[in-house]
Amino acid sequence: MLRSSLRFLFVLGLIIAAPAADAQSDDIGHYLTWQRDPTTTMTVNWVNLYEDATARVWYRARGTAEEWRSQDGEHKTLRPSVLQVRRAELTGLQPGTAYDFAWGERPPETATHWFRTMPAEAGDRPVHFVAGGDMLHRATWLDAMNARAGALDPDFAVLGGDLAYADGRRATNWVTWLRSWADHARSPDGRSIPMVVAIGNHEVRGGYHGRVPEDAPYFHGLFALPQQRAYYALDFGDYLSFLILDSEHTTPIEGAQTEWLQQALQERTSQHFLFPVYHWPIYGTDKAPSGRLPSEHERSIRMRQHWAPLFERHGVSAVFENDHHNYKRTHPIRAHERDDETGIIYLGDGAWGVNTRTVPAPGAAWYLAHAEPRRHLFHVTLHPTGVINVEAIDAQGVRFDGIRLHRARTPPVDAPTVGR
Ligand SMILES: [Fe+2]
Repeated sequence: MLRSSLRFLFVLGLIIAAPAADAQSDDIGHYLTWQRDPTTTMTVNWVNLYEDATARVWYRARGTAEEWRSQDGEHKTLRPSVLQVRRAELTGLQPGTAYDFAWGERPPETATHWFRTMPAEAGDRPVHFVAGGDMLHRATWLDAMNARAGALDPDFAVLGGDLAYADGRRATNWVTWLRSWADHARSPDGRSIPMVVAIGNHEVRGGYHGRVPEDAPYFHGLFALPQQRAYYALDFGDYLSFLILDSEHTTPIEGAQTEWLQQALQERTSQHFLFPVYHWPIYGTDKAPSGRLPSEHERSIRMRQHWAPLFERHGVSAVFENDHHNYKRTHPIRAHERDDETGIIYLGDGAWGVNTRTVPAPGAAWYLAHAEPRRHLFHVTLHPTGVINVEAIDAQGVRFDGIRLHRARTPPVDAPTVGR
């Protein structure tokens, strides 16, 4: 009698324990982001279909027998879908250090995943990242480029909007995107690659002039951004900053965002490298008004008038643009003219995993140094000396363009802001 009761309790225990165990391993995908300094923090995010599961992350220095440390995070439903998002921010990490991590109620028996914090100083080693946008017309293209990104073994990825083409409505697209990233964007030795994200029109119902968060529920639900808004700065110690901008998807270009940009640049004059990133391009390759250049689109003109003079006044490393589904590299540009001495190079135009479009005929757009309809990503290496190496690489791994910049930022030059 006693034995059969014990057996009953044992079986009951298995039944009760099973959902929790499944919820820990049966995930749609995990992704790493940053809310604060990437030299000492990491935000671990994962999505599954289980309402009742833990939001606890376990971590320890990679390959050691250290006691696992835990961090309890937050959980919410990615409404209006039923996807379950969990995230925990790990802080107080050692710079330049590899960590094993996993999520679950109890410490893992074996390490599931690992990440690496960024080095403390610019001089410690070259920093590598990949950049691109406009990722998901076809899952096979997304998978291929994510795998290409992982194979390059970058420190992180900068993804400039139109990630899953969910339009704030199709959560299933995010399932595809999350699975692809988790499965394919891995370094050759299995490391998970963190991402820095910008908002694009396909994150937003209607594409432009959306309200936050209701018109972009999945973007804001999946990504914990500073101050819950789509423009923000991310500082890597004192050597690298990204200024992520919202090209009118949920925030007007003029006004508060431009004022913030001015202040953000002012506060970062001593940062070694600095890259603005946004979705809609100032110097595009497509979507031209009839009979004019893409750069004469009214939104591009307003961005050029409000943002570009600030880039020039403070100096930047280069600018990343997206949306037009081609490859492009501009000549150095200052005050809306080619300026090989002090100009800024704009890199784009977002063709990670989408159908490409057409580019202006050679010589038709004065600002384009190289443009072609080709899916690609940028592979960027920041050398401690200040030299920046930029390579354009397609899904087959062919390096088809590149440029070497010999200083960390363009020299600060005041530019006229009116009438250009
Ligand atoms: Fe777009």
